[in-house]
Amino acid sequence: MTGISRRRFLEQSLLTAVALSGASGIKSAQSEQLRLTTRRRGANDRIRIACIGVHGRGMNHIEGFLSADGVDIVAICDVDESCILNAQSVTEKAGKPKPRGVQDIRKLLEDNSIDAVSIATPNHWHALAAIWSMQAGKDVYVEKPVSHNVSEGRRMVEAARKYGKICQTGTQIRSQKGSIDAIEYIHAGHIGKVTLARGLCYKPRNSIGRFPDSEVPAGVDYDLWLGAAPKRSFNRNRFHYNWHWNWDYGNGDMGNQGIHQMDVARWALNQKGMPWSVMGVGGRFGYEDDGTTPNTELAFFDYGSAQLIFEVRGLKTASDHDVKVGNIIYGTEGIVAFTGYSSAAAFDNQGKLVKKFEGDGNHYANFLDAVRSRKHTDLNADIEEGHLSSALCHLGNISYRLGSSVPFQEKTKAFGDNKEAYESFAHFEGHLSDNGINLQQTHYHLGPKLKIDAHSERFHNNSEADALLTREYRAPFVVPEKI
Ligand SMILES: NC(=O)c1ccc[n+]([C@@H]2O[C@H](COP(=O)([O-])OP(=O)(O)OC[C@H]3O[C@@H](n4cnc5c(N)ncnc54)[C@H](O)[C@@H]3O)[C@@H](O)[C@H]2O)c1
Repeated sequence: MTGISRRRFLEQSLLTAVALSGASGIKSAQSEQLRLTTRRRGANDRIRIACIGVHGRGMNHIEGFLSADGVDIVAICDVDESCILNAQSVTEKAGKPKPRGVQDIRKLLEDNSIDAVSIATPNHWHALAAIWSMQAGKDVYVEKPVSHNVSEGRRMVEAARKYGKICQTGTQIRSQKGSIDAIEYIHAGHIGKVTLARGLCYKPRNSIGRFPDSEVPAGVDYDLWLGAAPKRSFNRNRFHYNWHWNWDYGNGDMGNQGIHQMDVARWALNQKGMPWSVMGVGGRFGYEDDGTTPNTELAFFDYGSAQLIFEVRGLKTASDHDVKVGNIIYGTEGIVAFTGYSSAAAFDNQGKLVKKFEGDGNHYANFLDAVRSRKHTDLNADIEEGHLSSALCHLGNISYRLGSSVPFQEKTKAFGDNKEAYESFAHFEGHLSDNGINLQQTHYHLGPKLKIDAHSERFHNNSEADALLTREYRAPFVVPEKI
């Protein structure tokens, strides 16, 4: 059997075995346990926390910290007053004192009684909010992707170390027992030498349509929302949640859902630095709307001894792998499939189920434990892990953005002798055809293969690509080049 057909065979076995194992996958992932396990402390060392950005994910942070022992949510910060009011009301309904509401993070950070902050703002605010917070002496729990560009992530790591602060990345899979056990199994060599890690983000997303610019909603400080991004009129398609699909603020689904699976892929490969090269392809297919990021994207990363292939599919899809949002890790002696945030299964080369991994955990509790121990090594997702995985998303997007628009029918030699890449690309085409896209009349972005200098975290001799490792910051919302 060739390597590729062995994989196809295993993927078919996986389809059956995962169904039999009853892995509840993504569902169990979404119902993340909020039970906290930190030990109870006396009144003197209670952690006073402020939650920054409380529209969507930020409300999960509130839920998590409300059920934690020894933690008081003392302030809520959001540029949208209606979000502050909602978060205050949820906190009060939980029987806790009403937290102070603050619109401007700079005012919030003047409060020396705050020990820690959690950040669930749009991506373009993560780095600045985290760095300012650490400079003000606070520990930080910051959502994924930790950065909006590669350079920001490294600055965050430097800030955490310089100021001696705890900085946890919001990739909560890192705290789930099932995933931790599966990774240990891989690292212990049970599937032999790992040669390929696939990350899959098959998550259908509807078109966001088109909307005209409009008045800023009452109670919103839109200049503050824009932060470092260029000044523009208000548009609901560039505001709450839909900002994910605009490069000025978001990173597409690669940096939204995908960063979770990107992180697992790098974790499984046990890679602690940048890949040797990256190449990205894709497009925004099936509809025309206000979004600027691709809804279908492939990224190929070469680590020398192993490769990482990431696939984003935003249109409806029947999975080729029976893992829709997850990972498949291929070793010489078998594979491990991550079917959800806290569940995985190992198979031998004949496709026989060998072992299942299950069990939840609590990422907020892990953060609070590290805040108490003062050891960043106690974190399950220290900022450096967050930086390296977020950077992969950014690197894939950089190649994609520098790509040229080419027709599908022109057979490309761009993948060299990388059989896995050709196979993934064939599936990518099949997926688009299944969605009624006429490939004869369609173009896609074919990004260049970019070589990376792992030491400097820059590209080899490519100033155009280097420029996308950072952004032009709108003063005063500037992430410092040097910490
Ligand atoms: N870990 C996870 O599973 C998970 C799940 C969902 C979202 N997220 C992440 O959480 C973040 C937020 O996502 P969302 O879907 O909740 O976005 P959202 O747009 O719904 O909410 C963001 C909130 O931040 C506020 N905000 C914007 N700028 C601010 C500033 N300067 N100061 C204070 N508040 C500000 C907005 O007004 C809004 O209320 C994203 O980075 C996303 O990737 C993580």
